Amino acid sequence: MIIAVDGPTASGKGTISRALAAHYGLPWLDTGLLYRAVGRQLALNGGNPDLEADAVAACAFPDSLLDDPILRDEATGGLASRVSVHPGVRAALNKRQVDFANQPGGAVLDGRDIGTVIAPHADVKLFVTASAEIRAERRFKEMQGRDASVEYETILADIRARDKRDSERADAPLKPAEDAHLLDTGNLTIGAAVQRAIALVDAKT
Ligand code: C5P
Repeated sequence: MIIAVDGPTASGKGTISRALAAHYGLPWLDTGLLYRAVGRQLALNGGNPDLEADAVAACAFPDSLLDDPILRDEATGGLASRVSVHPGVRAALNKRQVDFANQPGGAVLDGRDIGTVIAPHADVKLFVTASAEIRAERRFKEMQGRDASVEYETILADIRARDKRDSERADAPLKPAEDAHLLDTGNLTIGAAVQRAIALVDAKT
């Protein structure tokens, strides 16, 4: 069984896909981490994220980089969003994701283009959303514990910029596949969102 989970940043798609993988005993790939690794490697190389050649060169990151906690930073997320617009970067990361999706026994993948590009044949596709304000509020609460100087308005502006870049790019933009189930997590606790996702998968299989 292949489960594709797409959606914007801070929608809850990561938590939901991790929980689905545990529930169904499937391997899970957070594909955003690959783009984050490219963004981080580009910073280490001193490259320019808006130059496709620099971004493609950063696709040769070592696998050990995937374990670096710095990949979770907002700054790395912003860089990931900028390098991910380049078709050359998407092509370089494509095979790894397609192979993961098609491994025997199935898999859960989360990202922006899993249901549309990486695994259009997925058995179940979920598109996880919530308003930009709710996502900013979640991110704000999560970050406040670590950094008291963070401001809600700044986070909201960053999220809006990232949404715009991800959904307006020409190559593999963020959008629900035609056959995706929309899961709005805005008014749901994470536990309720996971239960809803499991019910949607069970109904399809
Ligand atoms: O999901 P996450 O926030 O970690 O992803 C970081 C960035 O990587 C996203 O903003 C998006 O631009 C890019 N990305 C992508 N395609 C994916 C996963 C992530 O373009 N499948």
